[in-house]
Amino acid sequence: HRQFVPLSPNLTTCHLSYSRQVLPVYCCPPKPESEEPFIDFEFPDPETHRVRIRRPVHKLDRAFISKYQKALAKMKSLPLNDPRNFMRQANIHCIFCTGAYNQMHSNSPLNIHRSWLFFPFHRMMIYFHERILASFMDDGDDFALPYWNWDNPEGMLLPKMYMNGSFFDTERDQSHVYPSVADINFGGVESGLSDKDQIETNLRFMYHQMISGAKRTELFMGCAYRSGENGSCNGPGTIELAPHNALHTWVGSNLNPQRENMGTFYAAARDPVFYAHHSNIDRLWEVWRDLNEHKLDIHDPEWLDSHFFFHDEKLRLVRIRIRDVLNISKLGYAYEPIDHAWVNARP
Ligand code: C2O
Repeated sequence: HRQFVPLSPNLTTCHLSYSRQVLPVYCCPPKPESEEPFIDFEFPDPETHRVRIRRPVHKLDRAFISKYQKALAKMKSLPLNDPRNFMRQANIHCIFCTGAYNQMHSNSPLNIHRSWLFFPFHRMMIYFHERILASFMDDGDDFALPYWNWDNPEGMLLPKMYMNGSFFDTERDQSHVYPSVADINFGGVESGLSDKDQIETNLRFMYHQMISGAKRTELFMGCAYRSGENGSCNGPGTIELAPHNALHTWVGSNLNPQRENMGTFYAAARDPVFYAHHSNIDRLWEVWRDLNEHKLDIHDPEWLDSHFFFHDEKLRLVRIRIRDVLNISKLGYAYEPIDHAWVNARP
């Protein structure tokens, strides 16, 4: 009979790690987080915070874009010893995707991809990122990360916004930048399809990943990853595998060994489009839960009590559990509703 052990990182263990088993990377914070006191996550007060609406990137106006751009520039200009610094934000992802922290109750590394930790971890990561960005704005109360709406024909290209200013990243595949239509199931080989056929193919693929191929919890959420040496599992959910991984690969530069930045997890969050990509992933998690009337939601207490640590906009280290992030209205945000052409794209 095994003990009840929720997963969490052991903050004293940050170490050199490997990207795809071959490339050594070091993404630990300059000062160990274990030396800092932490607080438990608290929901934003609904009395003082209005619900922030995450909108599709292709519908943003200039005023929003310039406000976001200034905050991002500020984030990039902070010193590295400030956890709100953009590179430090990117390194959170590096730490958890390369297993730079060991688990709390074992010497096994903790990884957040290819299992049921995928959706909740990324929800937390971009939540704190969003709050930090908002804190750099004069009127940031309403600020919410936009989402890259790649499952919608109008959003199926790298949004133009990412070609400019602090949103730009040099490390991208130049044949995939605006306005080329994305292959949301890209595996490294060009599909050769016309734009119109690519869009149709993408919609049918979405139907499979969200509906026909995602009829059981594990198929969508990924496998049950448990604490300890034998607990790890390797079974990404439909959406994690593609479009998620596929678009990472599609955006990253074909001239770099691991298609950095977006094409490999240690570097992915250095590209600002990462956050809009994950905002859409996060949104699709909600869409899937709603499509299934929440009947496929996970209630396993080990999953619910698994937790991570992030710095908030006030530089406090916050411990947050998966059970804290299952109701986005309590987190103070919502997604602007949008039609899903793929719902009817049954093959
Ligand atoms: Cu942790 Cu889009 O990856």
